Amino acid sequence: MDINAIGAQVGPDIDKIVSLQEWESARVKYLGRKGLIAQLTAEIPNLPLQERGKFGQEANVLKNKILALLEEKKRSIEIQPAKSTMGAIDISLPGIAAQPGHLHPITQTIDEICMVFNRMGFSVVEGPEIETEENNFTGLNIPLEHPSRDAFDTFYLKPQAKSSQRLLLRSHTSPVQVRTMKSRKPPLAVVVPGRVYRPDAVDASHSFMFHQIEGVMVDAGIKFSDLKGVLEVFVKAIFGQDIKMRFRPHFFPFTEPSAEADISCIICKGKGCSVCGRKGWLEILGSGMIHPNVFKYVGYDPKKYTGFAFGLGIERIAMLKYGIDDIRLFFQNDLRFLKQF
Ligand code: PHE
Repeated sequence: MDINAIGAQVGPDIDKIVSLQEWESARVKYLGRKGLIAQLTAEIPNLPLQERGKFGQEANVLKNKILALLEEKKRSIEIQPAKSTMGAIDISLPGIAAQPGHLHPITQTIDEICMVFNRMGFSVVEGPEIETEENNFTGLNIPLEHPSRDAFDTFYLKPQAKSSQRLLLRSHTSPVQVRTMKSRKPPLAVVVPGRVYRPDAVDASHSFMFHQIEGVMVDAGIKFSDLKGVLEVFVKAIFGQDIKMRFRPHFFPFTEPSAEADISCIICKGKGCSVCGRKGWLEILGSGMIHPNVFKYVGYDPKKYTGFAFGLGIERIAMLKYGIDDIRLFFQNDLRFLKQF
């Protein structure tokens, strides 16, 4: 290779270098003991005498140029990693603040309600959302042909090949009464939060899925007044000491007698407004004394034990407590809504 060819090639050659390894092989290629410059100077003795000086000088200039190029390249390779790290992580920039989430308002309401009953000695149990027809209906004294079943009639699962039991999405938390009583002996006091499903068309006050809390207390000598006392403590803990509560006779197949409980309207304080439909009262739950047929079904002696049960809708409690006028807001995952709780 002649001196001009080497001179033309060395620039682009060194330009391409990106690592110290490549740099070292370029150094060997040009300046090594058997490198291109060494090969040039080895030629000198073969040249005519008068050309030797000029050629030697040119070779020297080229050698110095290569040295300078290599030196510069080496510095840029060594500096580069530091440079690019600086670009990627600038530790002087303000950090990204952590945005911790919080519990959903429904979960908060469940926790708050369970805590109130906890203080009165109730423990919290849960049951499955997929239930048997027995636990959801027949065990609760709701015969298959009973008209009150219509209101609860729900989503059935495709029949399982081997099981004889029809399965469904539970329409209330009451089947957990059956489950708990079947697996435990009195005395017992439990509350049961959970999801329930009904074939309701969705609007501002209805949802095909919502949450309930069931309460059950069973022992020898439990009276209707115990139910009333427990519920009074509950409504006052949630809505304040000034709230009034009343029972209204009602019918549920699994309680006898049965009652719905109302609280004085928290908006108008009982005077009558659009929220309470001018009645001054708001319905919040269903309740009653557990029906002897339910006791028989779970294997309790109805002559020995009495008990009460109640069931309340959690969305309704949260809506009243926080003044929310549309149940759909709970399920839309809109952070503008959720962040307010
Ligand atoms: N399960 C009833 C409902 O969903 C409420 C209820 C529970 C009534 C317990 C009485 C006793 O409407």
